[in-house]
Amino acid sequence: HRLAVLISGAGTNLQAILDHITAGELPATVSLVVSNRADANGVAVARQAGLPVAVIDHREYPDRAAFDAAMIERIDAHGADTVALAGFMRILSPGFVRHYQGRLINIHPSLLPLYPGLNTHARALEAGDAEHGCSLHFVTDQLDGGPLIARASVPVLTNDSVETLSKRVQQQEHRLYPRVLRWRAEGRLQLTDQGVELDGEPL
Ligand code: GRF
Repeated sequence: HRLAVLISGAGTNLQAILDHITAGELPATVSLVVSNRADANGVAVARQAGLPVAVIDHREYPDRAAFDAAMIERIDAHGADTVALAGFMRILSPGFVRHYQGRLINIHPSLLPLYPGLNTHARALEAGDAEHGCSLHFVTDQLDGGPLIARASVPVLTNDSVETLSKRVQQQEHRLYPRVLRWRAEGRLQLTDQGVELDGEPL
């Protein structure tokens, strides 16, 4: 099972995916890492692991469609059964989303449908939520709104800051993303017209 992983930042989810592959817990290979930022730490993570990396800087393209077309070309040249967004901070065009329909997965740092968009940890703290967490979903043209695959929750503690809370959520991200990708790699997880199916049963 070939994974393309798209990043913009630290790459801790990428690292977790690679660790699970190395440990034999995720029967997949990363065929390509794409970053829209040359200076992203995730690029260093990928190079350290000896993976093919494509830095595709969105600022060098006239519009979103051209940027997305360049990504599609590179991703498909390396082959991808699943495209995993792991802290990729660009909104994808409808053309890109359609091209990878049913193969495109995102991780979002909230318990969706709560808090789509940015600053999720601050918003959960602000709201006084007792629980927060992360979600994996198939990507559709709705921002952070595609069909849910899995969520993991953590408690919000009295003295939490954005930093302590986000760290707790990320620990869950690093467990949940490899698990969901494993379901994909084992051929158990699909997006059908009926919705998300795991082992042929609706989720
Ligand atoms: C994660 O919290 C993810 O949920 C969000 O961006 C962050 C990426 O972190 N979309 P990393 O680059 O994997 O360390």
